[in-house]
Amino acid sequence: MDKPSSGVHRGSSLAATLCLALAGCPGESAPQSEGSTSSGLGVTMTGSGLGTSSGTAETADTTGGLPASAGTPWVWELPEGFPPPYVPADNPLTLEKVELGRHLFYDPRLSVNGTMSCETCHRQAQGFADGRSVPLGSEGTPLLRNAAGLANIGYLYPLTWANPLLETLEEQVLVPLLSQEPVELGIAGHEEEIFARLRSDGRYPVLFGHAFPGEQDAFTTHHIAQALASFLRVLVSLDAPYDRYYYGEDATALSESAKRGASLFFSERLECHHCHGGFAQTQAIRHARTAHPPLSWHNIGLYNLDAEGAYPFGNRGVYEITLDPKDMGAFRPPSLRNVAVTGPYMHDGSVETLEEVLQIYERGGRLIESGPLAGDGSQNPHKSGFLVGFELTEDERDDVLAFLDALTDETFLADPRWSNPWVE
Ligand code: HEC
Ligand code: HEC
Repeated sequence: MDKPSSGVHRGSSLAATLCLALAGCPGESAPQSEGSTSSGLGVTMTGSGLGTSSGTAETADTTGGLPASAGTPWVWELPEGFPPPYVPADNPLTLEKVELGRHLFYDPRLSVNGTMSCETCHRQAQGFADGRSVPLGSEGTPLLRNAAGLANIGYLYPLTWANPLLETLEEQVLVPLLSQEPVELGIAGHEEEIFARLRSDGRYPVLFGHAFPGEQDAFTTHHIAQALASFLRVLVSLDAPYDRYYYGEDATALSESAKRGASLFFSERLECHHCHGGFAQTQAIRHARTAHPPLSWHNIGLYNLDAEGAYPFGNRGVYEITLDPKDMGAFRPPSLRNVAVTGPYMHDGSVETLEEVLQIYERGGRLIESGPLAGDGSQNPHKSGFLVGFELTEDERDDVLAFLDALTDETFLADPRWSNPWVE
């Protein structure tokens, strides 16, 4: 495991972070500029495949009172009866915001030293994870936690591994933008410089103008967050073999081994489905019909540093925010979507392979025999009652792994609609 230095997205610094951009604290809004034309520069919307460009969204929530002139309402392409993600009423989802968000997501000019974009840590081919145990920020400081995959992120609630305060994507994206401990993109205090950089590329005034029509100056952190959140929200992955089998009624989509693995995954013997059930393989789900679902956190016995079941300092789960002993080591069950390509695993990226993940569950917790992190996680007093431990035969283990493999959505991983628009 990498050894991160200090720094954690605590509630307090987060509150300050949010104040900066959401409540319009000083320094946030950009000066008047000639750049904010709302149309007419002839930009081609590069996301030609982005949904259909007309029609209305499926739920009232997704348009949220959007005036007809404010953009093209996003049209979801979902299986029959499938709920769209939750969309906050104050950020109606439009094609134009998605397109702007996509450009920003892939643009290193959004980091203060121009070295890093969202994509640096969230790569499409890796399910928008990054393949490292923990990423480095733009100043080279390791982050504390593993970069999560972003497939179906619009359905996850709450956001990140263990922060009960992060309820919307609009709030969440401010963390990488503004966070200072450690610095990720590092734009806090440099907003003017960044906005000037963006304005100087002729495409942005058009993209911002289309996404936020009628605004005197659309270049604000608030709008950047709204556009990024819109792009994230449409990253829906529903074309894995698993989906084609269960939702697409394609009986041949799953191999016999993966089907046996599914039966094990959903069995009371393994218990996986209690925390990783549903279409995104996590119970931490919200959509247009469930605005405020209950929160769920679990300790799966990865560490046990002392008799109280301590986890390593700075990475103690929800406890870092609540300081409530029952929250020690409690994390949100991650979505297992594309899990075969999003490793290494767990909140700190401390587990290399899915085989090792399975061994931990078979044991009912992880044993670390020596070193500063030594301890038997299976004896952690805060461990979930679902972590009972079980024995698998070789064949059964292969079956569970085949099932996890069947959650890989190759269409999503290569979908040109979610790719880097700057290299087209
Ligand atoms: C330096 C690496 C890095 C960069 C750059 C970065 N992220 Fe992340 N991202 C992470 C890590 C690490 C996490 C997990 C954080 C945690 O749980 O504490 C994360 C989590 C997230 C999540 C929440 C995922 C979940 O499962 O709830 C979203 C959404 C997200 N990032 C979007 C973005 C966007 C948008 C950008 C660009 C503005 C961005 N990230 C830039 C590393 C990065
Ligand atoms: C009590 C709830 C619970 C149960 C039961 C459970 N998990 Fe998990 N799972 C979690 C949580 C929480 C994490 C993240 C833990 C952490 O990082 O500390 C996790 C992490 C994972 C990961 C790593 C994913 C990633 O992206 O890092 C995989 C894979 C996984 N679980 C598979 C399974 C399988 C297979 C089973 C059944 C054998 C199972 N889980 C049972 C809650 C659960």
